[in-house]
Amino acid sequence: MGAALNSVFTVSDVRQLAKGVFSVTFDAPGLASRAEPGQFVHIKCGHSRPLRRPFGICDAHGGKLTVVFEVRGEGTKWLAASAPGRRVDINGPLGRGFSETSGKTLVVGGGLGAAPLLFAARRARERGGVTAVLGFRGVSNAVLTDKFESVCNGVFVTTEDGSSGLRGTVALPLEELLKTGKYSAVLSCGPRAMLKAVAEVTERAGVQCEAALEERMGCGVGACLVCVCKTKKNGIETMSRVCRDGPVFDAREVVW
Ligand SMILES: Cc1cc2nc3c(=O)[nH]c(=O)nc-3n(C[C@H](O)[C@H](O)[C@H](O)COP(=O)(O)OP(=O)(O)OC[C@H]3O[C@@H](n4cnc5c(N)ncnc54)[C@H](O)[C@@H]3O)c2cc1C
Ligand code: FES
Repeated sequence: MGAALNSVFTVSDVRQLAKGVFSVTFDAPGLASRAEPGQFVHIKCGHSRPLRRPFGICDAHGGKLTVVFEVRGEGTKWLAASAPGRRVDINGPLGRGFSETSGKTLVVGGGLGAAPLLFAARRARERGGVTAVLGFRGVSNAVLTDKFESVCNGVFVTTEDGSSGLRGTVALPLEELLKTGKYSAVLSCGPRAMLKAVAEVTERAGVQCEAALEERMGCGVGACLVCVCKTKKNGIETMSRVCRDGPVFDAREVVW
């Protein structure tokens, strides 16, 4: 894990990917070169707001770092209204990212949980190949599929309403792909219910699985305990800090 930087970076690109979903890219050479897939950045969203907002790193290469997010409240509204040239205070990269997998990797994302998996897929491709399973509510929520297609050996899209790809959740294609016996690791990010289902399917298949969790955060660096979640090691339950001990956890260690 590289040391975190707290500095001001310049916005170089802003795009709207879907209704209420934006990507913002920063010129951030020092930050991009330190970042590992699964880590996050803590962004000060507006000069008058003391609290930072956490975002998974969607991509980091060529001196640029990109986050992809949905507008939820004041902070994300401020960030979405960025234009190239805006100077933004960012702390990062923070937290524990995904382990380096070997052999073929499956990345499984739900909704905006797909965002940090793009960076993970880019790295996994270099180490034995990668397939993506991406679940969305409907076709209008499906983002980044073109980016995954350019990085992955295969991309399977599911939608709850059947408006694109397979109707249903990611669980079905995941189960089928794991039956082939080709995959040695699963990396997942998305809503908690999806992560729990992915953890159950991978456990049944005997394949290693890591899950990137989201919790509301305060400090982002392990001091305030706002972000704690229940985990277990050797059968003993404990509390872990998502910002510092995670956000990526071995799926078997999370108390779902
Ligand atoms: C490690 C981590 C990585 C994240 N990565 C992404 C990402 O890549 N893309 C993305 O769109 N979002 C991501 N989030 C969620 C994002 O941080 C929140 O949506 C954002 O902080 C909301 O800020 P706001 O000021 O706009 O909204 P607020 O006014 O703070 O809240 C608006 C609504 O969002 C909910 N909310 C706020 N924070 C969180 C949170 N941490 N998790 C779930 N719900 C929350 C609130 O309960 C409320 O309903 C991530 C969260 C964490 C902890
Ligand atoms: S956000 Fe403060 S300890 Fe995690």
